[in-house]
Amino acid sequence: MNLKRLIDQAVAGGLANAGFADTPAVVKQAARPEFGDYQANGVMAAAKRAGRNPREVAGEVAAGLDVDFLESPEVAGPGFINLTLSASWIAEQMQARYRGDESALDVATARIAIDYSSPNLAKEMHVGHLRPTVIGDALVRVLEFLGNDVIRVNHVGDWGAQFGSLLAFLDELPEGERGTSLKDLEAFYREASARFRSDETFATKARGFVVKLQSGDPACSALWEQFIAESIAHCEAVYDLFNITLTTEDVRAESAYNDDLPRIVTDLEQQGLITVSDGAKCVFLPGFTGKDDKPLPAIVQKSDGGYPYLATDVAALRYRAGELGVDKAYYVVGAPQTLHLKQLFALGEAAGYVDGQDFRHVPFGSILKDDGKPFKTRDGADVKLVDVLHEAVARAHDVVTTKNPELSESEREEVARVVGIGAVKYAELSKNRMTDYIFDWDAMLSFEGNTAPYLQYAYTRIRSIFRRADADAAALDATVVISEPAERALCVKLLQFQETVEQVTADNQPNVLCNYLYELAQSFMSFYETCPVLSGAEAERNSRLVICATTARTLQLGLSLLGIETVEQM
Ligand code: ARG
Repeated sequence: MNLKRLIDQAVAGGLANAGFADTPAVVKQAARPEFGDYQANGVMAAAKRAGRNPREVAGEVAAGLDVDFLESPEVAGPGFINLTLSASWIAEQMQARYRGDESALDVATARIAIDYSSPNLAKEMHVGHLRPTVIGDALVRVLEFLGNDVIRVNHVGDWGAQFGSLLAFLDELPEGERGTSLKDLEAFYREASARFRSDETFATKARGFVVKLQSGDPACSALWEQFIAESIAHCEAVYDLFNITLTTEDVRAESAYNDDLPRIVTDLEQQGLITVSDGAKCVFLPGFTGKDDKPLPAIVQKSDGGYPYLATDVAALRYRAGELGVDKAYYVVGAPQTLHLKQLFALGEAAGYVDGQDFRHVPFGSILKDDGKPFKTRDGADVKLVDVLHEAVARAHDVVTTKNPELSESEREEVARVVGIGAVKYAELSKNRMTDYIFDWDAMLSFEGNTAPYLQYAYTRIRSIFRRADADAAALDATVVISEPAERALCVKLLQFQETVEQVTADNQPNVLCNYLYELAQSFMSFYETCPVLSGAEAERNSRLVICATTARTLQLGLSLLGIETVEQM
């Protein structure tokens, strides 16, 4: 049940009954308890247009609210209506939520491609891939949960000039050593690029390899395939460790579009969209200007005949809109590629490859070190993602050992994994994705504040109530009675779960769900302080256990939508 939508509809009904059918209902969650649970404030605009007194109009709208789940609405200020849910209705809805199956909400039915993670395969995954991977995976989980048909796309870069040096380097290794050398992709990449810079003969050979590869030379392709396989296996291992849902089947690499590139250029030529400028084939799109207001070209074929990054993306866009037949395609890609994607989408429209489908950039800012500088190793290299994950688990292990020395070593290892990985993901997802943030181990692993460990700990506290009560959280008598304000507040929060999850997808903001879970955990803590669960009479105890069980389940479900696991004890 989307509570917010229910209230919207009720207010729209009230407006219509009062003769303002064309005025949109503007409803928000109440900012303070004395404003009720929700507040309607679109009435003022309607009154102004009708040249009438807002308070009077609000009174008529309130009187026209014909629903049984609200207590009598209250007009406040000039045209606000405070809306308060009736306690018996809340209790009824809580019972339904407790009994209900929430494995999926099934309220949305779009076919959506999500382009995310999408690393360049030349080197190992590094912290730069943290955001597109973690944000993308959370969006995939949320969109799927809502019932959409989601297509994961890992648009890995496997086709650029850098592969020339890698192949040349691989070619010089004795056959038996190739596989083992590739194990440390990062070192391999560093050595190959160093050779490219310092050794002109090698560089020439490397350039030759690019041409050979792109023209389909069999020996060269075999080497390349070995490299790609090794590289994808590396990504897989990172995804596994990181509990990311991408698999090898989701990889659709840049090279997959290779045969399409000349066809795309021919098609654009036939459509009269191509202008040759300095030997390069370009599309000049209205509204794109560079320095000095000069028109900015979108280059689809370079003067040497090679195809740039954009050309591959045009082919991928046509494939997604055409063959895959998506309604929407979201590109979870860093903010620096904003212009690239703007050009891509505009070109797609101009060429008729997209026709009304929603192609959208989901950008994000960067991760910084505590000195505000880019997150790099001391010698300026990228920090490997595996190293970050291993450090997270090791640090979580220390924290857990101090917090709960009673756990066995194997339990501690499991908790460390779940908490460490959860902390890194949550630190990412709880921020507005557009802001740069500082990677801070202590903050993300803290048990206080808006962190994964705080939420995971809240979950274990509820689970321990059930262990003490020796009760099965899934098999309670579902009757709920609400008496205390903290109890009521927690229940209303719980009923706002669905509107929150739907809200995440309005602008692809996972932090909306994080904030909700944090508030939910806080509401639970206040409830737990003021409402004894196990010591009351049977009916009260039972009702409160239902509320506890629903809270635990909601925390667990919400975290799972962010790709974060829970444990029973920590
Ligand atoms: N491989 C690219 C990079 O590392 C990101 C690809 C994003 N997706 C896309 N369709 N362009 O910068």
